Amino acid sequence: MSHVSSSEYLHGVDPGEQARLSLLNDLLNVGSLRELNLQGGERIIDVGSGLGQLSRAMARAAGTRVVGVERNAKQIAEAERQAVMAGESGLVEFRQGDAAKFPLHEIEWGTFDIAHTRFLLEHLHDPLPVVSSMVRAVRLGGRIVLEDDDHDLLRLYPEPPGFAQLWQAYQRSYVYLGNDPIIGRRLVSLLVEAGAEPVRNSFVFFGSCAGELNFSSYVANLIGVIHGARPVILEAGLLDAEHYDCAIEAMRDWSRTKTAALWYAVSWAEGLRK
Ligand SMILES: C[S@@+](CC[C@H](N)C(=O)[O-])C[C@H]1O[C@@H](n2cnc3c(N)ncnc32)[C@H](O)[C@@H]1O
Repeated sequence: MSHVSSSEYLHGVDPGEQARLSLLNDLLNVGSLRELNLQGGERIIDVGSGLGQLSRAMARAAGTRVVGVERNAKQIAEAERQAVMAGESGLVEFRQGDAAKFPLHEIEWGTFDIAHTRFLLEHLHDPLPVVSSMVRAVRLGGRIVLEDDDHDLLRLYPEPPGFAQLWQAYQRSYVYLGNDPIIGRRLVSLLVEAGAEPVRNSFVFFGSCAGELNFSSYVANLIGVIHGARPVILEAGLLDAEHYDCAIEAMRDWSRTKTAALWYAVSWAEGLRK
């Protein structure tokens, strides 16, 4: 049951959340780029480009200037700041606009080689028009690449006490906002409904264990993403504050043990414009 009528971005854009999103990009972009398998020369549009780290990485790999579409001015400002710091301000043209209405010039439709989006569709009440616009944005034979979450895939072992209830509450916070926490399994269906020819279904592995150098970063990302949803979880009565805080503490204890292991995978689907 949703309590809002327009799409609401659960995670927000405060500096702490921007730091988490940057960390997530550090952990995930190698895998996303591997799956994208860019050959060089592709003209790419990245929808819901956020802080633009993956947009820039795609631009580096393709050797072209990527168009990034992002609704939030604060995200664009931080994306541009990071690009300048990296000496890469020419790699992405960030355009402010809603994914429901791409900020493209008439002559640009049907000209891109790839339309890509990651972690956007899960935050929309109605993702199909966005995927349909992605299909229209690429040339005939162009690629439409959708990466998104199916939160049901997450496993922690040994499972910290209270974690199952906390993760359920986290997923229900999406539903409360009218969004879809398990959209990852629907990506191929969305491609078909949008008129594309699905050609690939895959995962980008996102996991680690105590003993791996990056494990603390995975834990920080996971706790950070749940933290962002705390106000909604409490407001909607999905879990009370005491159980929420105890479960987070149990996760911290778990993360300090030698046996802690975490598995997740980002759903990936790819289609072609017929
Ligand atoms: C989780 S971030 C992902 C950013 C980037 N794709 C990545 O993988 O790092 C989702 C981004 O989508 C943006 N967003 C949310 N709703 C949007 C909409 N309707 N149109 C355009 N951008 C939107 C948010 O502001 C946020 O920056």
